[in-house]
Amino acid sequence: MRISAPLALAALALASLTAVAQAPAAAKPTPKPHAAVKAPAKPILAATPPMGWNSWNYFNHNVTDQDIRNSADQIVATGMKDAGYVYVNIDDTWEGDRDASGVLHTNSKFPDMKALADYVHSKGLKLGIYSGPGTHTCAHFAASLDHEVQDAQLYASWGIDYLKYDLCSFRQDVMSAQFPNDEAAQMKAMVAAYDKMGKALQSSGRPIVYSLCQYGWDAPWEWAPAIGGNLWRTTGDVQANWGSIVAIINQNAGLAKYAGPGHWNDPDMLEVGNGKLNLAENRSHFAMWAILAAPLLAGNDLPNMKPEIQAILTNKDVIAIDQDKLGKQGTRAYVDGEIEVWTRHLSSGALAIAVLNVGSDRVATHPFHLSLAKLGLKGPEAGKDLWTGKDVTLTDNMDLTLPSHDILLVKVPSPK
Ligand code: GLA
Repeated sequence: MRISAPLALAALALASLTAVAQAPAAAKPTPKPHAAVKAPAKPILAATPPMGWNSWNYFNHNVTDQDIRNSADQIVATGMKDAGYVYVNIDDTWEGDRDASGVLHTNSKFPDMKALADYVHSKGLKLGIYSGPGTHTCAHFAASLDHEVQDAQLYASWGIDYLKYDLCSFRQDVMSAQFPNDEAAQMKAMVAAYDKMGKALQSSGRPIVYSLCQYGWDAPWEWAPAIGGNLWRTTGDVQANWGSIVAIINQNAGLAKYAGPGHWNDPDMLEVGNGKLNLAENRSHFAMWAILAAPLLAGNDLPNMKPEIQAILTNKDVIAIDQDKLGKQGTRAYVDGEIEVWTRHLSSGALAIAVLNVGSDRVATHPFHLSLAKLGLKGPEAGKDLWTGKDVTLTDNMDLTLPSHDILLVKVPSPK
């Protein structure tokens, strides 16, 4: 009789099993406990601050499906994708009406959201969308009140990867309508509304980055991570002017301890390349967002981006500070007149040092003396100037001149 190889093996296995079964009890090999089979850890969503682009700061109410496609194309063509920009986020004004079953439809500017998501995904990018907990968004389009689960499922069915959820009309619809003159109850209702959408996203079956936009009300950094928030706005809306950038930087001082992998303070989207910000201001804005471990969501007109703006947005050394895997947000070490000195601890013991001239031209002509002692350093500290790409050595009390609104950003690999 011919026995096939597998059958023969099976017979052998059976024979050895029987042999073990018949052996005296004392000779039984002690069964080894199975090595614990670990389920593969779920990757952390937004393990580093999300990077991408958002339509609001430039296109505002006018954004269309075509603008989103063009922007996705440009993210690839300009090297932004290679530099780490992934999310292409549609902000307000895509929403249409709900039908009789409560399903929200897009308006005529966005004829087919699923097709748009497929297009963006085909470029190796991800698509973000926008809504809010009230009846209406800030631009008075339909929002998600009482449709949270339905909307989260709709987003998942389209292939959405990111949701910005903006408080807006929830303030009037629920907070002041239901709890007039009771701020504590209003805030509780707000947190519950964000929790509701957080749960809806988590049960949607798709990993969707959850971005809270409620302007820093009621210290979201204290409760947003627990309800699944990956980032939360810390302030009101950014504007493309220096005063707004500086005000936001100041409002984020003190929040470092709340940021970390999967949960970030959001000082709002980038205005780099917008408005009247000059080159120094654009550099400083971008560098400070990197120090703040902020989401880097460009907000400019990508098809018409000037080369010097592209160079800022794709500076890999500065981006590496923002995306440092330790996820430790930088802090303001000290202020001396119009100069602010910030540091950020990086992986492998490196340190980023930012010296920002928030004020006038005085320090352009009369040097400021950098105190390394105030940074806990002795010097000399060998590093790299991340804007010029040149090596620099920082020494205690060294003279530094800086044009108004400009920044010196240095990475010191091995601080002493
Ligand atoms: C609010 C937000 C902005 C933007 C607009 C859209 O003002 O803070 O970032 O999303 O709404 O209407």
